[in-house]
Parts: sequence; structure tokens; C-alpha cells
Amino acid sequence: MAQIKELKNIRKDINEVHTDLLIVGSVKTKKFSNPLKSSLGKTLSNAIKVEKFTGKLGKSVKIYGDDKIKRIAVFGLGETKKYDSHTARDLGAKIIKYANSLETKMLTIDTSSMGLSSDDDLGAFAEGLVIGSYEFLDYKSDKKEVAKSSNTIVKAEFIGANSSVLQKAFVLAEGVAIARDVSNHPANIANPTYLANTVKDIAKADNMKYKVFDGSEFEKMGMGAFYGVARGATTPAKMIIVEYNGGKKAEKPFALVGKGLTFDSGGISLKPGANMDEMKFDMCGSAVVIGVLKAVAKLQPKINIIFAIGSTENMPDGDAQRPGDIVTAYNGKTIEILNTDAEGRLVLADVLAYVTDKYKPVGMLDFATLTGAVLIALGNRASGLMGNDTKLIKDVKKSSETTGEKVWELPLWDEYSKEIKGKYADLKNMGEGRLAGTIAAGIFLKEFVGETPWCHLDIAGTAWGPKEPSYQPKVGATGVAVRLVYNLLENRIK
Ligand code: BES
Ligand code: MG
Ligand code: ZN
Repeated sequence: MAQIKELKNIRKDINEVHTDLLIVGSVKTKKFSNPLKSSLGKTLSNAIKVEKFTGKLGKSVKIYGDDKIKRIAVFGLGETKKYDSHTARDLGAKIIKYANSLETKMLTIDTSSMGLSSDDDLGAFAEGLVIGSYEFLDYKSDKKEVAKSSNTIVKAEFIGANSSVLQKAFVLAEGVAIARDVSNHPANIANPTYLANTVKDIAKADNMKYKVFDGSEFEKMGMGAFYGVARGATTPAKMIIVEYNGGKKAEKPFALVGKGLTFDSGGISLKPGANMDEMKFDMCGSAVVIGVLKAVAKLQPKINIIFAIGSTENMPDGDAQRPGDIVTAYNGKTIEILNTDAEGRLVLADVLAYVTDKYKPVGMLDFATLTGAVLIALGNRASGLMGNDTKLIKDVKKSSETTGEKVWELPLWDEYSKEIKGKYADLKNMGEGRLAGTIAAGIFLKEFVGETPWCHLDIAGTAWGPKEPSYQPKVGATGVAVRLVYNLLENRIK
């Protein structure tokens, strides 16, 4: 949960503010322009001199104030030339962490000194502030630890900012927070039914229709690939769908599809024990869908969207799928299972083919913690991006640049298709040995989207783990791609 529960714009003069902590910004190249006219202003100017504060990015100077303003901190913004929305987002997170270390309840930002030259920068700063305040303490029983967190910032005020920009940033940050929450819950709590209920709850909003299909229906629906993966699990599998109608009735929807493996043991091709606990995060693709759903429910953008999640556990069992099994996917293609641990692509194959067939989307994105290989290729600083449509790939890259959630394109050239040709069936569920594992998975998915303009984001490296920029949490899921996808949807509204 994000600790900040409210972002507010106030129209007061800085000298009338009542707060626990006032934050003022200072640029490196300019002389500090003191916004305080009271006696505090003088003390602040003195402190800046004594501390030899130059406005270096991330450096700060603090003084204690009076009854009205208890503390004032000047934060360095570095050089204006290098200051952009990414720096602003990062700084927002640094400021909230600083405020938390002081255990303050209320924070006030002197907006005009923060170097936020556009609404985008202001939005990014506010996002960083709220996302950076995220903590996951649901399972901590240490009262002190929990109380400390709930006693810190609950409200942040901005002096003279654009209120609608703040509200949108807050909603997007809530989307990121719910994506992190569902991902951080362990697999014994966040199972497919839990995901379905979470979605159902959000989908009570206007213009949303919720549907769910149980694993027991998959076989007769023709989803043999998803069914094969779900066989080994005793917790029921679910395909979860929300139809959102924010656009014109006749307009075809854009589709978002997420891999929701609430636990991936590997199945009969069992994974090694080390770090297997992290496979509770194998539903982070579905968390992207849930995070965006949450933001769409509140912001009601004028576009039609299909949200779809394929959710199950991948478990070994007497009835589990075996290596060598052959299954038939929703679009009629047959697949040889060479490794039961390459299960995400099987689940997605059926959900992608189903959504393509039922909704004829104008574009489709999928999100999945699909391959360990993407970590080898890109580490945890960028998600792998693949697709069949140059324009959509370009749009994803553009949104990625806006939101700072890095992506890097890998090719899906036709030549790679050879590597997933089956010996006995049409396809096999993995490529040639260890080579180009992420691309092999991508080119496999491409078989199930028909002519739909489509992109796949492999978030196995970015969905949990990265500690930078500073809005990332100390532990657990990042909620990566929620903001990127919302930005992309928004850019599609003409
Ligand atoms: N969920 C994993 C991918 C994964 C691995 C994500 C490590 C994050 C960290 C996926 O289902 C998987 O097991 N993929 C296999 C595919 C292989 C068997 C072809 C992999 O990457 O090893
Ligand atoms: Mg697997
Ligand atoms: Zn998996």
C-alpha cells in the first residue's frame, strides 16, 4: 500500500502554511531564491551558507521552524538543463523517503521552486512521491514496525499546483500500488480465485463487464494448451476477462493480456529449489492488467479495452502434464510439450487466441514473466519488447520513454520460427537449447495472435528485483509497465 492517501493542491501563500515539513527546491546554477519572508527565511539562508549547500541533486539542508512550519528542507535539484521528468519522479521518491525518515505526518511542497516546468514533470514528481511511499507490511505482526509506517506521511500538499495533474498521478500510483500488492501476496493467498475476486471488485466501476471461465471449462472451450498447464494444480484455474466500454459502441477494443501463474514450480520439469519462492511473482504480467484496470476504472478514458488474464498454478502431480504430451490450442495449432516449465507461453497462447477470435481487437499487448533468458539478455533494467507491428512497437517505446519504464526490442524474424517447429506436432513449446530463449518464447506467442497488431513485454527481469530508480521498493514487486500501458492507451485516444 502507498502511505500517501491524499494529494492536495492548496492556494495559500507559503507564509500561511501549517505543516510538519515544507520542501523547497534549489537549482545548482542559480542563487537560492528564498520563498519565506518570515524570520525563518533568514535562518534558512544562514543554514544554506553554513552548510555550503550548492543545490547539488539529492543534497538537502534542514532547519527547524515554528508552530506553523515545523521543519523546512531545501532539496538540491542539480542543474536545470539536466532536470527532466525522470529526475522529477526520482526526486519525488527521494523526498518521500526523507520525510518518512523524519516520521512526519504531513508534507507540503513549494511547487514553484521545484523546477517542474510542465504538467508532465509535475505529474512525474507526484507519481514518484506516492509510488516511493509504497510499503508491503500486510504480514508483519510487529506492531511497532506497522505503526511506524502508518504514522508517517498520510497527506501531501502542493502549493499552487494543477489539481487535475495531481489527481491523475495519484490514481496511476494507486494502479502501481495494487499491482505490487497482488504480486507481493504469497501463492497460498493470491491464487487464481483471489486474482479473479480482485478483478471482480474493481470491475464494479462504470462501463465495466466482468466475466470468468473456470479451468473445468477449458477443454470443451478448445483451450487445450491452458488446460494442460492447469491439470497438475488443485487450486482451480481461471480465465478472467473485463470488457471496458469507454469509447464509441462500434469501435473495436484494444486488448491487454497478462500471464497470471500464481506459482510456477516448473511442473514435472521441476525447477531447482534455489529461489523457487520467487515464482509467486510469476503472475506479475496479470498484475499489470490489474493495475491498469484500476486506473481505467477511476479515470474512465474514452476508449474500449479488453482486459484478460490467464491464471493457474504450474504444479507436479499424478495428473500433471508430461514432457512429450501433445495439446491443441484454441486456434487449432498442435503443440508438443518438451518442457512443462515453459508453461506461460501455453497459457498465453490460448488467451491470446481467444481474445483475438472473440473481440477482433485493433491492437493487443501481453505482459509476462516469460523467460529467465531475458535476465541474461537485459538484466533487470529493461523489459524485453517484441511484436509483429512496427507502429505499435514504436508507440510502446514512446510511452516507455515518457514513463521511464525501460524496454528494449528483440527481433521476431521469420528465421526464428524454425526453432519452434515440432517433430510430431505443429509447434514445440521451446526453442533450440539455451539460445535466444526470450525470442523463442516471443515467436511462439506470435503464432496465436493472427493478424492482430501485437506486442509482447517480457517482464521477468523488471517485475521484481530492481532497486533503482528510488521509487522502486526495497523488496518485492515493482508494478512495472502499469504507467507505460496507461500512457499508451491515452495516446490512442484521438
Ligand atoms: N516463469 C518462468 C520464467 C522466469 C524464470 C521468470 C526466472 C523469472 C525468473 C517461466 O515459466 C519459465 O520457467 N521459463 C523457462 C523456459 C524454458 C524451460 C524454455 C526458463 O526461462 O527457464
Ligand atoms: Mg515455468
Ligand atoms: Zn512461468
